[in-house]
Amino acid sequence: MKQIEGTETPLLAVHGLVKTYPASGARLWGSRVVHAVSGVDLEVRRGENVALVGESGSGKTTLARCVLGLTRPTAGSIDFDGRDMSTATRSQRGAFRRRVQPVFQDPFSSLDPRWTVGRSVGEGLDSFRIGTPAERAVRVRELLEQVGLPARYAGLRPTELSGGQRQRVGIAAALALGPELLVADEPVSALDVSVQAQILNLLAVLQRDLGLAILVVAHDLSVVRHISDRIAVMYLGRIVETGSTATVFRDPRHPYTRALLSAIPDPDPARRPDLVPLHGDMPSPLSPPPGCHLHPRCPVAVPTCSSVDPALTDLGAGHRVACHVAAAAAGHPDPTAQPDASATDTSTPRREEERPCPPRA
Ligand SMILES: Nc1ncnc2c1ncn2[C@@H]1O[C@H](COP(=O)(O)OP(=O)(O)OP(=O)(O)O)[C@@H](O)[C@H]1O
Ligand SMILES: [Mg+2]
Repeated sequence: MKQIEGTETPLLAVHGLVKTYPASGARLWGSRVVHAVSGVDLEVRRGENVALVGESGSGKTTLARCVLGLTRPTAGSIDFDGRDMSTATRSQRGAFRRRVQPVFQDPFSSLDPRWTVGRSVGEGLDSFRIGTPAERAVRVRELLEQVGLPARYAGLRPTELSGGQRQRVGIAAALALGPELLVADEPVSALDVSVQAQILNLLAVLQRDLGLAILVVAHDLSVVRHISDRIAVMYLGRIVETGSTATVFRDPRHPYTRALLSAIPDPDPARRPDLVPLHGDMPSPLSPPPGCHLHPRCPVAVPTCSSVDPALTDLGAGHRVACHVAAAAAGHPDPTAQPDASATDTSTPRREEERPCPPRA
């Protein structure tokens, strides 16, 4: 595991990122917008694997696309290697494209079925005119071997490969330009469970051998448990908890993180009785609830939660949580939150059956 806090400039630093989309039917609804990402701060250090985890619709792909430069943020900044991408020159943006590469979710649609594997893997080399055609062909074969495929696969079409093999081709293509950061959006969710571990292992080996940083998006915490150094948990456009993977699994503080962990099958269900699942669906990003976005579903919400947006509070060693109850329990109450009598006993969040969930907003 990597050092998570340090003084070196992070490879990627996202500050106050906001992305809204016009709501469909916006003409009818006036200026209504979808709040996809609502003020996210996130750092990825060199050689570090950071996982972005959350339910469907929490804004993970939008954030990943902003980092890749595929979606323009509404507000906030994205610094790569200390440089603000929004003010970068054209040539700096070209270099950025080489240094940050995507790995897509669906290897079935991310490869052109008319192209050979070799052409797909070598596309970046061709477009940047790196080396001679013969040198590029050699490099393509090396890349295939690096991701565990025989070099002769360069002549095959994607339809002749399994899902796992196609994802390996997608990863080889992402490696072709020698990137420093891979942004992998649900890289294994379209694959058979038996193949998922192989692809995750491949990413871990590449991170170690090439010193790659990886920002990996997943629904499921168990997918990233063994490959990520750090986890950022997202809910309705915001990061609600972040910390080292070991800390988040051992000592989850946010009720949403606890709920995600409760969904991971455990051979001994009595081991973590404090992990309470959530009920109901995530509210619409068209009208996120005021205060803490989770409060309508939260088993430990106190009145403050419905009006005051909790700040990400550092509990120590880079473990941050955006929850009034958890921060107060850890002795770090949010100074902007109003004191509330019902929030005083926060040593153990109350179980759902002891405290009914407040009505949904
Ligand atoms: N191009 C778009 N136009 C309008 N709304 C969008 C667009 N892209 C995403 N959204 C909305 O933004 C919100 C966040 O979407 P996003 O795809 O980032 O979530 P996600 O966490 O990646 O979800 P999933 O786990 O299902 O992939 C959703 O409500 C989605 O409907
Ligand atoms: Mg997504």
